[in-house]
Amino acid sequence: MTPRSSFVCSACGSESPKWHGRCPGCGEWNTLIEERTPTQAGATGGRARTRTAAAPRPVLLADVEAPAVARLETGIGELDRVLGGGLVPGSLVLIGGAPGIGKSTIAAAALGRLAAKGHSVLYVSAEESAAQVKLRAERLGEHALRVPILAETDLELTVAAIEAERPDVCVVDSVQTLHADGMTGAAGSVGQVREVAGRLMEVAKRGGTATVLLGHVTKDGALAGPRVLEHLVDCVLQFEGERERTYRVLRAHKNRFGSTDDVGVFEMRDRGLTEVTDASARFVEEATRAPGSVVACAMEGSRPLLVEVQALVAPTQIVPPRRVANGVDRNRLALILAVLQRHAGLQLGSADVFVSAAGGVRVEEPGADLPVALAVVSAARGVPLGTGGRPLAAFGEVGLTGEVRYVAHPERRAAEATKFGLGAPLAPAAGGGATLRELVARAHGTRGADAPLDAAA
Ligand code: TYD
Ligand code: MG
Repeated sequence: MTPRSSFVCSACGSESPKWHGRCPGCGEWNTLIEERTPTQAGATGGRARTRTAAAPRPVLLADVEAPAVARLETGIGELDRVLGGGLVPGSLVLIGGAPGIGKSTIAAAALGRLAAKGHSVLYVSAEESAAQVKLRAERLGEHALRVPILAETDLELTVAAIEAERPDVCVVDSVQTLHADGMTGAAGSVGQVREVAGRLMEVAKRGGTATVLLGHVTKDGALAGPRVLEHLVDCVLQFEGERERTYRVLRAHKNRFGSTDDVGVFEMRDRGLTEVTDASARFVEEATRAPGSVVACAMEGSRPLLVEVQALVAPTQIVPPRRVANGVDRNRLALILAVLQRHAGLQLGSADVFVSAAGGVRVEEPGADLPVALAVVSAARGVPLGTGGRPLAAFGEVGLTGEVRYVAHPERRAAEATKFGLGAPLAPAAGGGATLRELVARAHGTRGADAPLDAAA
């Protein structure tokens, strides 16, 4: 059999028999990469259909035996919650994130805790030497040093080791650095990543090993190579946060064994990632209470989270003035500023506006609109909001016509604010909405709704 080539898009993974400048699947330019189709039968995708077996019989779902699976709890509560209660034996989990975000750290810590509980584990490092992994483990504590490591970049040898050891849990760091023989393309190319994950999945299912693949994401946040794996794996977790900041959010994008609503919040310390179970308390405590600061009652999936939104409004000569957003959506900010100018009389034409969510977290949900708007107004006027030394809490979605709409889970957002001592948050009433102008006036308490708002007054 002569080796055949196919062309695979590195953005969407769609395959075509010949090269195109533009991917027929997703329309991206220059993303098609030649991949040699594996010649050996048995590799994924190359299975020959020669057997003439009897047609298989379908089974009634009611008659299917499904033993209750005991989950392997990693002992890291925030991670277990995002996984839906722990790792499922034989499942394949992909953890994606930018380099340096803490993927190796959380994986090493989880394996350490599992080993301490008597589970057999294996850490395959294709990226760092055993000595480098040891240095990290030393910071994580004694448990982490009890993890057996294999520093290997060859897929076949890795598979052989997993089959020989049959660990309960295996981490592969990273899926992009393992190399499959018999495939063209450098490690990390679409074909390679797919082959590596495919083989590891077979091994995982056969031996009942819960396998965690770590994978890098590109600058724009897409799981580049790993994106083609999303349909293959059981669970895709994404590690988010800014590398320079300490907070990290772990989010499930896909979970065959649980909901994708939960998030885990961590903080990177000098002894690894620590769980932040009282994230709201932390963010509220750190809130500044200065002009331009408002606490957003946001939802992270099904979990309420209080996040301080800060704004700075400064006069500028630059045309057009700067609009900088960190942790909040840029387009939402542009919309909110436009609504403030058009419907609430705030003039920002010659002022730079900076808005950020404190702590390096992202609040990209409609409920954060009102807090962003209030923070900008407070910054523009130089007037702090909130009463009795408490910052103001708020939530609500700003509409194009200047109204503020109700958002999902109002009780839970309000309960979270009360729980952490912020009092009742400012929000549109349940039945009818309110206008942004009214809510701005209420936040400032003293001034009437019609008072003009001047930037940097
Ligand atoms: P790492 O887990 O290697 O990231 P990834 O595998 O996602 O590329 O480590 C992330 C960063 O965290 C690294 O720059 C060093 C830092 N770090 C700490 O601050 N404290 C610690 O205890 C550890 C282990 C790492
Ligand atoms: Mg790493």
